[in-house]
Amino acid sequence: MNDYCQNVFDNLLIQKDSSNYRYSREMYSKSTISEYIYKRIESHLTSENLLIFFLGCVVIYIIVYIFNVISQAYFSPNIYVKELTEVGFEHIAKGEDRKLRIARAQAARRMGNKIPPPYPNGWFAIGESEDLKTCKVLAVDALGQNLCLYRGRNGKAYCVDAYCPHLGANLAVGGTVTENCIECPFHKWSFDETGTCVRVPGVENAPKGVSLKHWLTVEVDGAIWIWHDAEGRDPLWEVPELPELEVWDSRGRNEFTVSAHIQEIPENGADVAHLNSVHSLSVLELFGHHVWSANWEPGEDHTASMDLTHDYILFGRKVGHIDVKITQIGPGHVRLLLKSPVGPILVSQSVTPLGPLQQKVVHRMFSPTKNAIFAMLLVNYEAKQFARDVAIWNNKRFVSAPAYVKTDKAIRAFRNWFSQFYSEKSISFKDAHQNNLDW
Ligand code: FES
Ligand SMILES: [Fe+2]
Repeated sequence: MNDYCQNVFDNLLIQKDSSNYRYSREMYSKSTISEYIYKRIESHLTSENLLIFFLGCVVIYIIVYIFNVISQAYFSPNIYVKELTEVGFEHIAKGEDRKLRIARAQAARRMGNKIPPPYPNGWFAIGESEDLKTCKVLAVDALGQNLCLYRGRNGKAYCVDAYCPHLGANLAVGGTVTENCIECPFHKWSFDETGTCVRVPGVENAPKGVSLKHWLTVEVDGAIWIWHDAEGRDPLWEVPELPELEVWDSRGRNEFTVSAHIQEIPENGADVAHLNSVHSLSVLELFGHHVWSANWEPGEDHTASMDLTHDYILFGRKVGHIDVKITQIGPGHVRLLLKSPVGPILVSQSVTPLGPLQQKVVHRMFSPTKNAIFAMLLVNYEAKQFARDVAIWNNKRFVSAPAYVKTDKAIRAFRNWFSQFYSEKSISFKDAHQNNLDW
């Protein structure tokens, strides 16, 4: 020990001596600082102190957790994302090349026969409103297309085909927004809100008849939707805005990439029998279980409805009763209005085909302030339930003629109803699969 350390140490001991400290100066004169610290700690290592320390840690953890939940519920939405390889592939052993082995297992999967067209007609969500700031450009691959999504100076979202008609540059990669036009990164040609070329640098008049395909957009339920129709028709329906969402706030969303045909996802609603076989196990995984009952009804138009009731059974008693009013709007949009004892919650589901057998499924949660915490937690609990369906979808095949039984009545009705979203020019599954974005 050098002189300086010895001095500091001596002073320390003198101070401790003066307050009747039980270790004497003599005792430590030949010792090291580390021994001193060790003995100090040892003297406090009683089982009583350890218990206090442990309880203190638990209390701090609970306080931090509650603080985190409250701050997330009120100030930052809860975002939960699962990639395709993260759900339903537990049977594939872990290891460095696991993703490759999952891809191989998917490629080897027999997909079934008579698979319907992969891109039905309807509105499809291609991005979150909050992700597209003014003058920002996003590249989106969906519906077997490469798209360029941007927000004009006027605040409106626009969507055009990604490839420039001049020499094919991708407008979504390096393109810029001027006023409400998108400008190509290659030779700076400019295209307006309708996709028409309006300016070419160094040329007095823009070439006539040169344009990009432009997709109609709407923004509802916190997302940007485009209209897709194989026949090129104008929208066959409008997506109504919900008055509740003018006053309720977003509490977050969960996102899944699913390997299945789009029709399989909404068919889950009509598949009443699966509710109590797949979704009965408690999401808490400790005690209790869920009990569901439902009826699914096709509408006369592009909508279908379902009334769902949920009870949580805990020690033989019904707790946590929730009524859910569900409206399916076209092939890729479902609204679930939950009436729970703590207040209402809206869950808006979008299903967007990224490729023939790859769907992006998002559940966005909205609620009034009073039940923000419950809605925020629902992001995770609903995701846990949904992951059980995803694990099945990611490994199943499409069965065009199921062995129906009495309890499958609604599935047959669902398939008839859903067929309205396919039309004469819908690209076939086979054609789409030859040039797909799945893997
Ligand atoms: S490729 Fe777009 S302007 Fe030339
Ligand atoms: Fe399900």
